[in-house]
Amino acid sequence: MAVLSLLVLFFSNLCFPVLNVATASNIEFQGRALLQWKMALKTQELLDTWTSKTSPCNWTGITCRYNGHRMPTITRVQLGQLGLEGELETLNFSALPSLRVLNLSNNHVHGSIPTCISALSKLTILDLSANNLTGIIPSELGNLTRLKTLWLFENQISGSIPLSFGKLKNLNSLDISAISLVGSIPLVFGNLTKLNVLYLWGNDLDGSIPCDIGNLVNLRDFEISDNQITGHIPHSIRNLTKLETFYLSGNNIKGSIPGEVGNLMNLRDFNIYDNQMTCPIPDCIRNLTKLESLHLGKNNINGSIPSEIGNLLNLRDFGLYENQITSSIPPRIGNLTKLESFYLGNNNINGFIPSEIGNLVNLKYFGLYKNQITGSIPPSLGSLKCLIYLNLDNNHLSGILPIEISNLTNLMYLQLSYNNLSDNLPPDLAKGGLLQYLGLSYNNFQGPIPL
Ligand SMILES: *[C@@H]1O[C@H](CO)[C@@H](O)[C@H](O)[C@H]1NC(C)=O
Ligand SMILES: *[C@@H]1O[C@H](CO)[C@@H](O)[C@H](O)[C@H]1NC(C)=O
Ligand SMILES: *[C@@H]1O[C@H](CO)[C@@H](O)[C@H](O)[C@H]1NC(C)=O
Ligand SMILES: *[C@@H]1O[C@H](CO)[C@@H](O)[C@H](O)[C@H]1NC(C)=O
Ligand SMILES: *[C@@H]1O[C@H](CO)[C@@H](O)[C@H](O)[C@H]1NC(C)=O
Ligand SMILES: *[C@@H]1O[C@H](CO)[C@@H](O)[C@H](O)[C@H]1NC(C)=O
Ligand SMILES: *[C@@H]1O[C@H](CO)[C@@H](O)[C@H](O)[C@H]1NC(C)=O
Ligand SMILES: *[C@@H]1O[C@H](CO)[C@@H](O)[C@H](O)[C@H]1NC(C)=O
Ligand SMILES: *[C@@H]1O[C@H](CO)[C@@H](O)[C@H](O)[C@H]1NC(C)=O
Ligand SMILES: *[C@@H]1O[C@H](CO)[C@@H](O)[C@H](O)[C@H]1NC(C)=O
Ligand SMILES: *[C@@H]1O[C@H](CO)[C@@H](O)[C@H](O)[C@H]1NC(C)=O
Ligand SMILES: *[C@@H]1O[C@H](CO)[C@@H](O)[C@H](O)[C@H]1NC(C)=O
Repeated sequence: MAVLSLLVLFFSNLCFPVLNVATASNIEFQGRALLQWKMALKTQELLDTWTSKTSPCNWTGITCRYNGHRMPTITRVQLGQLGLEGELETLNFSALPSLRVLNLSNNHVHGSIPTCISALSKLTILDLSANNLTGIIPSELGNLTRLKTLWLFENQISGSIPLSFGKLKNLNSLDISAISLVGSIPLVFGNLTKLNVLYLWGNDLDGSIPCDIGNLVNLRDFEISDNQITGHIPHSIRNLTKLETFYLSGNNIKGSIPGEVGNLMNLRDFNIYDNQMTCPIPDCIRNLTKLESLHLGKNNINGSIPSEIGNLLNLRDFGLYENQITSSIPPRIGNLTKLESFYLGNNNINGFIPSEIGNLVNLKYFGLYKNQITGSIPPSLGSLKCLIYLNLDNNHLSGILPIEISNLTNLMYLQLSYNNLSDNLPPDLAKGGLLQYLGLSYNNFQGPIPL
């Protein structure tokens, strides 16, 4: 009843007093479809400007375009973050043939994505992210070949990535992360050569990274972390020279870091944390001079830390812990003056701590625990004024704890247990007042603990 009376109102408000469906203009059909959808929402009060008394072009979230005869048509429906609760099934997509943008992100839209959504043939932006959508991704989405942006992340969608996505050749940005997708990454992605952003992280995808990823020469951000991806990193990544972010962490990827990464001259973040990568870090890493973040931790990487690492002058975060590195720390590490975190724990690193480490004046976190480091702690460590965390546990360090350590007034964690350090501790060790944890067990320290 409510729907009917509203429609009557709507029609009585038109310029032409005698009006039937056959002569109603486009905008009236469009407004009617939207009002019908509103009536089915649980939160109608959030769209109180949506009434039959005003033109749909004046409603919240609605944008119209006017043709040569000043006839309006709805081109954008942007209703993000309003708290809307309802379904998409009740929206008559056929009535909105000119829609370019549909953005319902951050609401409580539930139910599935209707197959008739493919009626929105002019759509360039579809954002249904952060809702409560269920069901599968309908293959009909592949009919929306003008789409540039497709965001479905953070829903409870399941099923696999439809092969029909191979038709979305205008896509710039595809974010289907964190929606429980299964199956493999379909080969059809090689068709999407305009993609800048491809987010597939946080699903249950398996299979390997398809070789035709090398066709995505415009790719800037590629994130497939936290899936079940296997296989190797394909050599075809050499083509992805615009890549800035490459996240593969939390998968089951094997093999070596291919030498082709040396071509990815624009890479800023490279993260393969927690995979099954083997073999040494390739020398070609020296090419990646824009790298700010390099996470290789929790793999089976062996061999040495290449001294070429000293070329990566923009590096801020370097994680190599839980691997099988057997070399010493190259002195050229001292070049990385922007470094803030440096984690080498749980390897078989030997040799001395190079005194050049004292050049890393921005270092906050330094983890070198569980290695085979010998020699003494260099006094230059006292130059690391930003240091918050220093963990040298479980090595073969000997000699004294240099007095310069008391200069580390930001230090909160100082872990030195299971070494062979001796003599007295510097009396001013805790003068910064921030020290929360001091691990000294299994050394040969003498005298008082200055706390
Ligand atoms: C739209 O709103 C404006 C004022 O905000 C008003 O002047 C105009 O008449 C309205 N148009 C229609 C068609 O409702
Ligand atoms: C959708 O709208 C939200 C604001 O509600 C905005 O943050 C988001 O960027 C929009 N999505 C797209 C794809 O433009
Ligand atoms: C949907 O809109 C189209 C075009 O305006 C119309 O022909 C059709 O009858 C509508 N369908 C429903 C179920 O309202
Ligand atoms: C949507 O999902 C969130 C989190 O999964 C839940 O808290 C909320 O109750 C759901 N809302 C609806 C309308 O289903
Ligand atoms: C839309 O896609 C489906 C499946 O991908 C297909 O069967 C159908 O013919 C397409 N419809 C149109 C109008 O292109
Ligand atoms: C990929 O593009 C080719 C060439 O345009 C086309 O023939 C093929 O159907 C597309 N593949 C898919 C899966 O859409
Ligand atoms: C690299 O990209 C070109 C297009 O620029 C393509 O023809 C070639 O097949 C790609 N190579 C690989 C290995 O994917
Ligand atoms: C380093 O980059 C250059 C392009 O600037 C390229 O020619 C060279 O092959 C790359 N080296 C490695 C080891 O990848
Ligand atoms: C690293 O491990 C691989 C595979 O386990 C092995 O073939 C290679 O010889 C090792 N290299 C070094 C330098 O230890
Ligand atoms: C890195 O430091 C070494 C000395 O340890 C120096 O010879 C080299 O030129 C530096 N490289 C860069 C790129 O600054
Ligand atoms: C430590 O601080 C003292 C002054 O307290 C200063 O003389 C010394 O040069 C500093 N050492 C380092 C390594 O920064
Ligand atoms: C520990 O250091 C002392 C000298 O301070 C040395 O005599 C001893 O051999 C060292 N022990 C080990 C296990 O390295």
